[in-house]
Amino acid sequence: MARTKKVFICSNCGTTSPKWVGKCHSCGEWNTYVEEIITRPSGSGGKWQAGIEKVRGPVPTLLPDIKVGNTSRMETSDAELDRVLGGGVVGGSLVLIGGQPGIGKSTLLLQVAIQAGVKVLYVSGEESEEQIKMRASRIGPDTDRCYIYTETNVEQIIQQAKQLQPQLIVIDSIQTVFSSQLDSVPGSVSQVRESAYLLQRFAKASNIPVVIIGHITKDGNIAGPKLLEHTVDAVLQFEGDRNYIYRLLRSTKNRFGATNEIGIYEMHANGLREVSNPSELLLTQKEEDLSGSAVAATLEGRRPMLIETQALVSTAVYGTPQRSATGFDLRRLSMLLAVLEKRGGFPFAQNDVFLNMAGGLKVDDPAIDLAIVSALISSLEDIAVPSNYCFAAEVGLSGEIRAVNQIEQRIQEAGRLGFEKIFISKFNTKGLDLQQYGIEIVTLGKIETLYRKLFEEF
Ligand code: TYD
Ligand code: MG
Repeated sequence: MARTKKVFICSNCGTTSPKWVGKCHSCGEWNTYVEEIITRPSGSGGKWQAGIEKVRGPVPTLLPDIKVGNTSRMETSDAELDRVLGGGVVGGSLVLIGGQPGIGKSTLLLQVAIQAGVKVLYVSGEESEEQIKMRASRIGPDTDRCYIYTETNVEQIIQQAKQLQPQLIVIDSIQTVFSSQLDSVPGSVSQVRESAYLLQRFAKASNIPVVIIGHITKDGNIAGPKLLEHTVDAVLQFEGDRNYIYRLLRSTKNRFGATNEIGIYEMHANGLREVSNPSELLLTQKEEDLSGSAVAATLEGRRPMLIETQALVSTAVYGTPQRSATGFDLRRLSMLLAVLEKRGGFPFAQNDVFLNMAGGLKVDDPAIDLAIVSALISSLEDIAVPSNYCFAAEVGLSGEIRAVNQIEQRIQEAGRLGFEKIFISKFNTKGLDLQQYGIEIVTLGKIETLYRKLFEEF
């Protein structure tokens, strides 16, 4: 029998101590000691090693001799989730879904558990059976293939999973489960890490995929250790604004597929609904053209999406003008304002600036820059951008309008949705037949020309 014991290890320098200490006597850092389990294999003379049990090491294998066969994918009945995962969940993989509290992680996975049509073990340490039942009845009719298990001891969970042999396991959430081998409280660094490690070993050994939910801290990290992101095979982020109905599922890491796919959902009273054609969603319907808004032809993952950006520029009441951005990086907004001020001579320094993305989404596609700049100028000058114009280009520090990727897709989508003019970078036209899209393409080289081209007919 292997022997195990507990030690505390300094996460800075690796010194061990049998007891927790506040200050490391070796490197002098404070609060770096975390609890770990170490194991010594049976027989004498073995070394103490990290982890619960020493696994026999693998032997080197020639590449052609490696058989591919057990990376089978299972479709989950949720087309958006499957797409984000790269075509279904891979057998034996460990998937982490992160997101802020209340965004809908439990709803998403319970929905998958109910609708997947395979035997699922849904482990919840957050809600009682009745609460889950109530939620499930909002989502859909009962199924006799979904088992609810309100246990938080990871050894027990694995024990049950071995008996039940489900085809998918959901852990809601990793912060509530704990290993009885450690004394620290659930949610602590060592517990989260140990539980994830045990679940991963179980998943690999049994070839059952395990999806774990992780909460996100205020600064956007998956709570507890970032370390978890290294352990798991795929990391998905579930994001959106709780006050809006749209939710985005984005993959930030995927060992079995690309990370540029996103899934889009709408949250309804009876669960999440997939949005298969998102591009029109984020355009607000309005009767007349209003100043301060411009439409950007962005790409989310590989899907084109037209998003309305709104800016409000008003005279600053206080000495220091306010800048506020929802769904867009505030520092990038400051940069765009500085470029407009310096290169275009627009006086933003005395004005408060507010920026908003429709639908409460977060956009980090650089192609949105030109729409934002146009919305800002439009609000400052109080001239409306016609609602059948849209924009797709990045703005550089010296005011140059830069090319963006997959411009063709953006133009096509804008044309399909009935836009009449799209403003792009003049460096983006290589190999493009500007006539074939059924939409007028206006090319720009510098920010200085934007105003003229945009408002020249007024
Ligand atoms: P939840 O899945 O509990 O969030 P998380 O697990 O990420 O913390 O979702 C919470 C919100 O979703 C809650 O405010 C209610 C709402 N909701 C709906 O709008 N429709 C539904 O069908 C369900 C089940 C929840
Ligand atoms: Mg939850």
